Amino acid sequence: VQRLSTRNVKIKSSCNCKIVIGEGLFFAKKGKIPRLLHSLLDRKPSSFVIITDTSVRKLYGTRVLRELSRIAETHLIAIPPGERSKTMEMCMKVLADLAKFGIDRDGVLILLGGGVVGDLGGFVASIYKRGVRYIQVPTTLLAQIDSSIGGKTGVDAKWGKNQIGIINQPEGVLIDPAFLRTLPHKEILNGIGEMVKYGVISDAKLFGELEKADIHSYSDLTKFIEPCARIKARIVSEDPGEENLRSILNYGHTLGHALEAAANYSISHGIAILYGMLSEGWIAQKLGFFPTKDVQRQQALINKFLTRDDLASVLRVRLEKIAHYALTDKKNVSGKMMMSLPQKIGKMHQTKEGDFKTSIPFNLLKPSIVYANRALIGSLS
Ligand SMILES: NC(=O)c1ccc[n+]([C@@H]2O[C@H](COP(=O)([O-])OP(=O)(O)OC[C@H]3O[C@@H](n4cnc5c(N)ncnc54)[C@H](O)[C@@H]3O)[C@@H](O)[C@H]2O)c1
Ligand SMILES: [Zn+2]
Repeated sequence: VQRLSTRNVKIKSSCNCKIVIGEGLFFAKKGKIPRLLHSLLDRKPSSFVIITDTSVRKLYGTRVLRELSRIAETHLIAIPPGERSKTMEMCMKVLADLAKFGIDRDGVLILLGGGVVGDLGGFVASIYKRGVRYIQVPTTLLAQIDSSIGGKTGVDAKWGKNQIGIINQPEGVLIDPAFLRTLPHKEILNGIGEMVKYGVISDAKLFGELEKADIHSYSDLTKFIEPCARIKARIVSEDPGEENLRSILNYGHTLGHALEAAANYSISHGIAILYGMLSEGWIAQKLGFFPTKDVQRQQALINKFLTRDDLASVLRVRLEKIAHYALTDKKNVSGKMMMSLPQKIGKMHQTKEGDFKTSIPFNLLKPSIVYANRALIGSLS
């Protein structure tokens, strides 16, 4: 356990949602967690329900159950791990369990896990008895710097990912980097993709530090959690309804999602958005916003994080298929592709009207995929 340092970042003055980051929070002296929970909750909870997945339960279930039981009666519900659990059917099962435990409107849900548990659990909290309070305890890098912040909750539908849901802020987000000690590298890479994105869209200093970092070192990696969580919190609080600024969080995600879909979701999200940033950065350069030297810096940083196996898995996907999915992206409006693109590292481009979304000529799409593939092949040799 390292020195306990907790800092509060207030997301939004109009809501009470606080983000507390503390190394060893859940592993430290007795009493720390109960005190923190008291400070986050305005009314006493009648009970807690930990919602987690079975893998996280094995690693941390007992510990967290013990901490929470000091304050109130505590139950635990574990869903099978992975995206396949993010469904309406699973949501119904969890709702039925809450009812079986007799949870009333003063019950508080504790969402212990990655983005799947966070999204599903946040949705359950939003609709159980018309809404109960919930607290995010993210245990993956992606969840700690991205999905647990901003209040987007929901599940996947047969007709698409994240198609059912609601925006509803948690009472708080408790981030303990120590959970990442057991997280496999493949999952770490999902968070790294978003870290690189935060550097490009809003923080040149962070980008520079990522260039120097050794991501296999726990201390190098975890020092980026706080700056990244702050960036997400700031962007979300300035534009909670995603009217303009929040769209910059989608950088790399049009081509990234297209690659994931074209590969039938066999390529992980982190690899896909690193790839997406290569293509979209190239488009920004062609449109005359993003300087060549920044394109090259971005390419070098992205290549640093991808292994030969990652590259091979991407290069197996057919270009036409990626282009097809990018053309049918839900962010396109009235036959136009809309993207948020960088102006330089650390700053996103705005149109004369102040819009962060720019309309992209369709004929740039395929060449941008060719560029991204060449950039990957170049790093193989
Ligand atoms: N709400 C949002 O704003 C938002 C933003 C981005 C992504 N998401 C969603 O997040 C989900 C992806 O989240 P994710 O990448 O965290 O995936 P995940 O929740 O599936 O977790 C990944 C794997 O890591 C395991 N795991 C979790 N914590 C661990 C730990 N500390 N040690 C060892 N293993 C651990 C889990 O059991 C799981 O198998 C997607 O459904 C995506 O749509 C939501
Ligand atoms: Zn993402």
